[in-house]
Amino acid sequence: MPERVRITDVSPRDGLQNEPGLIPTADKVRLVELLGAAGVDEVEVSSFVSPKWVPQLADAADVFAALRGRKPPGVAHSALVPNERGMRAALRVNEAAGERLIDKVAVFTAASETFCRRNTNATIAETLERFAPVLRLAQESALPVRGYVSCAVQCPYEGPIAPQRVADAAARLLDLGVDEIDLGETIGAGTPDSVSAMLEAVMARLGTARGRAAWPPLLTLHLHDTFGRAAECVRAALRLGVRSFDGAAGGLGGCPFASTPARRAPGNVATETLARVVVEEGYAVGLNGGALATAAAHARGLRAGV
Ligand code: HMG
Ligand code: MG
Repeated sequence: MPERVRITDVSPRDGLQNEPGLIPTADKVRLVELLGAAGVDEVEVSSFVSPKWVPQLADAADVFAALRGRKPPGVAHSALVPNERGMRAALRVNEAAGERLIDKVAVFTAASETFCRRNTNATIAETLERFAPVLRLAQESALPVRGYVSCAVQCPYEGPIAPQRVADAAARLLDLGVDEIDLGETIGAGTPDSVSAMLEAVMARLGTARGRAAWPPLLTLHLHDTFGRAAECVRAALRLGVRSFDGAAGGLGGCPFASTPARRAPGNVATETLARVVVEEGYAVGLNGGALATAAAHARGLRAGV
């Protein structure tokens, strides 16, 4: 049996957060349902961030509430939370439903100080301070936590990022108690060589931090596909042992705070591309190609001007 690779689709969150026109809640709910039907392992559904910063995702609680009873078995639904306020909002969703509509939360920091400030109005150290109460609440509710490190290869403002800085940020997140690390190649500038160098540095560092319940921690690669190199980077990561990837159906996406005046932030690697490459490399995904194409068509239809 080929080894199974885990696929998280982030299109309802990363894919839509940068869309200028407000997308109806029902269309977002439909996208999440279609992704679940396609067999992804996890859907990153929305964010509990400031609606002033990301107006598109201000309906996070409504999206989750509408998904009640519509989550296929085996599919996890997750949400981004930047601070205690976001975490409490996420917990209220589960409490109001009397069941776990949100299975996991994700905190996010960066390996670049400039991006971190633009994205969260905080230094890297300040983001970690904000995560401490999030992790305490998550532990009390037995909710797993993913920890993102953005700008894992390059920052839109600072340029190339030294792999050791990424390893430092990942190690600090693990010390805080996150269950998994997600390495965000935020602007798609990576090459197989630079992504491999970064992964090797992170793996070497995390390999020395023993004594955790689940070891090794799940390591996910989150690629944006600006220059069409994401597929090669996935192949390189598979060779190094990465077995979990994020993608966005239809290749939607981009962080609004990674946009520069000259260029809008690039889309995520398409989940369709990701699945094809993973299978070509001899691994298995639990995806139904036809159902994924339907989800991708729906996702593309939500884009501005379509
Ligand atoms: P701030 O302005 O520094 O914080 O924002 P604040 O505590 O001073 O709060 C300002 C206002 O926001 C207040 O409201 C708060 O109540 C409210 P006001 O008094 O002005 O009416 N507020 C909140 N409202 C709702 N939910 C909350 C919340 N927190 C405060 N949780 C904050 C700090 C982090 C909140 C803000 O900077 C923010 O929301 N940033 C959004 C960041 C974001 O969503 N970025 C995109 C996701 S990250 C990404 O895309 C990268 C990734 O894909 C990986 C990769 O590709 O690299 C994950
Ligand atoms: Mg992203």
